[in-house]
Amino acid sequence: MRALSFFLFAGAVVSATAASDASVARWLVKEATFAAISTTSAGHEGISEKGSVFANGQDISDGIAGSSTGIIYLYLSALDPTGADLLVNPRGSVTISEAQLNASGCGQTDPEDPTCAKLTLSGKISKVTGSVADLAKAAIQSRHPATKSWPTDHNFFYLQMSVEAIFFLDFYGGAKNISIADYFAATPEAPPPSMKGKATAQEGESMESVKSFVKSVLSLGQNIVKAQPNIAHKAKAVGDRPLFFERAKVARWMVHQATWGVVSTTSVHLKGAPFGNVFSVADGVGLADKNSTGRLFFYMTTLDPTGQDLQKNPNCTFQISEASLPANLKKSVLCRGLDPEDPRCARITFSGPMVNLTKSEDIAVAKQSLFSRHPAMASWPTGHHFSFYELKFTSIYFLDMFGGDNTLEVQKYWDATP
Ligand SMILES: *[C@@H]1O[C@H](CO)[C@@H](O)[C@H](O)[C@H]1NC(C)=O
Ligand SMILES: *[C@@H]1O[C@H](CO)[C@@H](O)[C@H](O)[C@H]1NC(C)=O
Ligand SMILES: *[C@@H]1O[C@H](CO)[C@@H](O)[C@H](O)[C@H]1NC(C)=O
Ligand SMILES: *[C@@H]1O[C@H](CO)[C@@H](O)[C@H](O)[C@H]1NC(C)=O
Ligand SMILES: *[C@@H]1O[C@H](CO)[C@@H](O)[C@H](O)[C@H]1NC(C)=O
Repeated sequence: MRALSFFLFAGAVVSATAASDASVARWLVKEATFAAISTTSAGHEGISEKGSVFANGQDISDGIAGSSTGIIYLYLSALDPTGADLLVNPRGSVTISEAQLNASGCGQTDPEDPTCAKLTLSGKISKVTGSVADLAKAAIQSRHPATKSWPTDHNFFYLQMSVEAIFFLDFYGGAKNISIADYFAATPEAPPPSMKGKATAQEGESMESVKSFVKSVLSLGQNIVKAQPNIAHKAKAVGDRPLFFERAKVARWMVHQATWGVVSTTSVHLKGAPFGNVFSVADGVGLADKNSTGRLFFYMTTLDPTGQDLQKNPNCTFQISEASLPANLKKSVLCRGLDPEDPRCARITFSGPMVNLTKSEDIAVAKQSLFSRHPAMASWPTGHHFSFYELKFTSIYFLDMFGGDNTLEVQKYWDATP
């Protein structure tokens, strides 16, 4: 079924797109200033258990400004959990969503919709020295000038990723298979806006509906399903952000404002390596603060690799960077002008089991919350085994200031309001 739908869609995609999959993947890497980095935890008190998956938002760069190599460079501190994890075990993944690049996100397209491009590169992210470190430094400092003045006593070091697998989705019909060679040979190119949100058919769709969808794309080339307004983009003004010392309040505000984040799992298809993937989230009905519950609701399917990973091991993380909040996306005010890896640009990671909701009252709350923030979900294909999930987190990593205070008590989170 998967191969079949990929095949059928291939024709439609080629006839309608200019940019190749590899070019779009390279464009995401070139444009993104930060990404969710998923690692295997080296064990961090109050944050994550040794051997479990962990993720955090960090700066990335693939070259000096104006150029792009496709090679991902990072600059991490050994005092930071991600840096510490990678020094012990370099296996990691780098996840980027098209929704993080533009003030209008993916426009009218939901971040979890396949046509909002998502990329996860998996492989080894290793410390580099010598001339490679010089290249990494030039790349990082060019796109993240603030790093030049970061403290020298925090054990910062440069890293380079060696890519082993590419997970890329920018259209219906399942993940695209991009070879490493094609990825590095491609020239970065933005995807054509015309392909966005054209239908609700997705991976695993029945043959009849796949055929009829392809037919309608080819014959109409027009909106098949009317785009739903993404009300989530009517986000609060940045000025409404709680102050940093109200840590639990900032955390609740971030969760309530977020439209998406990265769920990281221990991957089945990557033989136990960490894998991050983009998912839409909602914590309450609409954007009114009084409707925020702080709970993390998701709409997922086991046709997706993340859904498959969760069946094997429900322990996962959900990560949000303040830099990705719709209210913060205008480039000039991205995190109030702060670098995405600056501790004052808040980041949160929840760890715990992802639970498939079975009680009707839980399903009702999850459904009302998700569908109010992500109206397109209501028309996603019913044949795709989507169900409502909640992350029942047991620990919270949270950073919103200098000083190394990076945990948040779960009870304080529940007691706060956005
Ligand atoms: C951002 O999105 C808007 C609206 O969809 C589009 O017109 C614009 O070209 C996009 N900008 C970038 C840098 O992708
Ligand atoms: C992806 O491509 C590689 C190399 O061409 C091949 O070995 C692999 O089987 C392909 N995977 C899928 C899911 O098609
Ligand atoms: C708050 O939630 C209720 C349902 O629980 C809903 O009817 C109402 O419209 C929501 N308020 C806003 C402002 O979205
Ligand atoms: C999930 O995490 C819990 C709590 O840390 C642990 O007891 C359990 O063994 C983990 N499950 C798996 C499959 O690793
Ligand atoms: C999740 O729960 C729903 C509703 O109870 C059920 O229909 C579905 O089969 C479950 N999915 C998985 C993967 O267990």
